[in-house]
Amino acid sequence: MIAMWDAGFSAVDPEVERALEQGQGQMAFERMHWQLDAVWKEMERCLVPGGIACINIGDATRTLGGVFSLYANHARIIAAMERLGMRCLPLILWRKPTNAPNKFMGSGMLPPGAYVTLEHEYVLVFRKGDKRGFAKTKARELRNQSAYFWEERNQWFSDLWEFRGAQQKMGRNAARTRSAAFPLELPFRLIQMYSVAGETVLDPFAGTGTTALAALVSGRNSLSVEVQPELRSIIRDTFAATTLEQLNARQRLRLQEHLDFVAARGADRFKHHNAFYDFPVMTRQEIQLQLPALEAFQWQAADQLEGHYGVLKADF
Ligand SMILES: C[S@@+](CC[C@H](N)C(=O)[O-])C[C@H]1O[C@@H](n2cnc3c(N)ncnc32)[C@H](O)[C@@H]1O
Repeated sequence: MIAMWDAGFSAVDPEVERALEQGQGQMAFERMHWQLDAVWKEMERCLVPGGIACINIGDATRTLGGVFSLYANHARIIAAMERLGMRCLPLILWRKPTNAPNKFMGSGMLPPGAYVTLEHEYVLVFRKGDKRGFAKTKARELRNQSAYFWEERNQWFSDLWEFRGAQQKMGRNAARTRSAAFPLELPFRLIQMYSVAGETVLDPFAGTGTTALAALVSGRNSLSVEVQPELRSIIRDTFAATTLEQLNARQRLRLQEHLDFVAARGADRFKHHNAFYDFPVMTRQEIQLQLPALEAFQWQAADQLEGHYGVLKADF
């Protein structure tokens, strides 16, 4: 329900355009969501049992036919996912950086005519059925290697995310800004939180390919779907223009931040030791943790890329 997506939704369903023109906001909103409902249905079909779906969505405010209203996309999508039988899990509020001076809406300082500003988006989290089991030795080993640090858990599993400067800017360019791309940090965290190394991440709304990039630097496979064909070359160019060093920077930062955490807390105040890195960790679950290092990547086809990995070394 923000103007930038009107044309796309109207091209598929001309009734959307008509409803917008006639000021029928609820009708336009519902018909736009019918298009998204079809995507959620496919997403549910593609997920493995116990797999996790994360949906980044913002609500919208809009005046149509002279009526100002909130269009609560997050609530409409939760209802759609529940209808598909997905389990709704606790969600994340992503607090977006806003510095617009005129961000307040409505009638100034006089009650009750002003509206609060939307300064966050949601990351809705769903699971297909019950929790996954990891019965086989190899599956358990990969899961243990994919552990995150205790101090990352404390930050990542908070329900309020606010990215700092570097996390916000990582991978930014003009095309990404124009296309409502989210910062790399957003899919990066979700991928470490909800998937195991070697698994496959599906992004049905690829845009400029941020999720694919986050999957590549996380040692996960990924599949991206996008309706605008012109974004293919933008995604390709982004990958081609990024060096291995830049790609590995985020995983490297995890190691650096852990070493900083150890130094700040005092190495003698840890009970456990990571077997691979030979550094202290807070819990037993982190002793097999290993971070992937992307060592090379090659294009296999115009839109297919293959990465080769080793284990990231703590050599700084
Ligand atoms: C907000 S952008 C995603 C941005 C992305 N998260 C990024 O960081 O680059 C949403 C994308 O979904 C695409 N899209 C919209 N409807 C679609 C559909 N039914 N199937 C596939 N892609 C779709 C749009 O063209 C747009 O590029």
